[in-house]
Amino acid sequence: MKKTEKPEKPVILTCAQPSGVLTLGNYLGALRNWATLLDTAECFFGIVDMHSITAKNVPAELRKNSISCLAQYIACGMDPERCHLFMQSHVIGHTELAWVLGCQTPIGDLQRMTQFKEKAAKLGFSVTEGEDNGMRFSHDGARAQASVNSGLLFYPVLMAADILLYNADQVPVGDDQRQHLELCRDLARRFNHNYSDTFTVPEPLIPKQAARIRSLQAPEKKMSKSDDDPLATLYLLDPPKLIRKKIMSAVTDSDGEIRFGTDKPGISNLLQILAATGGESIETLVHSFEGKGYAELKSATADSVVALLEPVQKRYEELMADKGYLESVLKVGAEAAQQRAYRTLSKVYRKVGFYPRAR
Ligand code: TYM
Repeated sequence: MKKTEKPEKPVILTCAQPSGVLTLGNYLGALRNWATLLDTAECFFGIVDMHSITAKNVPAELRKNSISCLAQYIACGMDPERCHLFMQSHVIGHTELAWVLGCQTPIGDLQRMTQFKEKAAKLGFSVTEGEDNGMRFSHDGARAQASVNSGLLFYPVLMAADILLYNADQVPVGDDQRQHLELCRDLARRFNHNYSDTFTVPEPLIPKQAARIRSLQAPEKKMSKSDDDPLATLYLLDPPKLIRKKIMSAVTDSDGEIRFGTDKPGISNLLQILAATGGESIETLVHSFEGKGYAELKSATADSVVALLEPVQKRYEELMADKGYLESVLKVGAEAAQQRAYRTLSKVYRKVGFYPRAR
């Protein structure tokens, strides 16, 4: 779409994977901020079920998690009257555009992606850069559990297609998506350069606060939906008792001092969670906890998280009791998304030289 054809409001697009219940990291680093953008932008919020099958998945679980993810979006403030909520697999165009973009993406750019390397490492593979700048993909025979599927490598191209299909101006994400966004921007620029101005080059919107909430058990890692450690992640739908248990058993350190710093990842993470959920700044919290113990900090953090999530959980239960309503939201969302997607896709097909279909 040409700049002049753009709707007046900026277009915002962002998504989450329905690969499990959303986490407190998803909420604080992403969803809570999305909900503040509804009136100033035209917002598209996708549930990217196609991304979820890059990891091993159980079909019935994916179906359940997908509709649950929609209910969580709405419960977190994504009012369907003021934004477009859609399932990625309901819209033709995401994979089609990904193919076109993939044909312009050097494979080395994908092998260099940090998240790809991390996910491959989990399966027992490692990616290293050779002296000739070529990538070496090797596996540690004993640890390798399965092969790394090519969808995992192609993942960032599909993500770029999700964004460029809607000509998004801004993409609100947490810090872990920074590199994927950079690739998306490169692909938009490359296509515009090769074929003429087509895509808006999107800007990432990364929050200053809570852009990377960390695991409660290994605070050097981000809090993640798929952590194997049952105490590492706070899920949006965890009952209050479980939230308290997880926070009270969070890993800290032995020096007993409550302050923020890279040498204190566990305490800093708790301070970050308390600041983001309770509304006080980290400096104020450090001051008010002077001379107090870690148990007090943990207990205050647990109270704050429980209080914040209580209304979200209540609304979620109401929504899940009305599947008909949720499905009607998806129908309307898919129609709006599809309209936009077709417009971009037909333009892209024309530019790359595909012969037009007779009308
Ligand atoms: P996903 O599903 O892992 O996460 C959804 C959003 O939550 C943010 N996030 C976090 N923020 C702070 N702390 C954390 N511990 C934390 N964990 C996750 C993520 O940054 C994200 O904003 N690849 C994406 C999904 C995607 C997408 C897109 C995003 C597919 N297509 C197009 C934006 C635009 C992902 O796996 O997000």
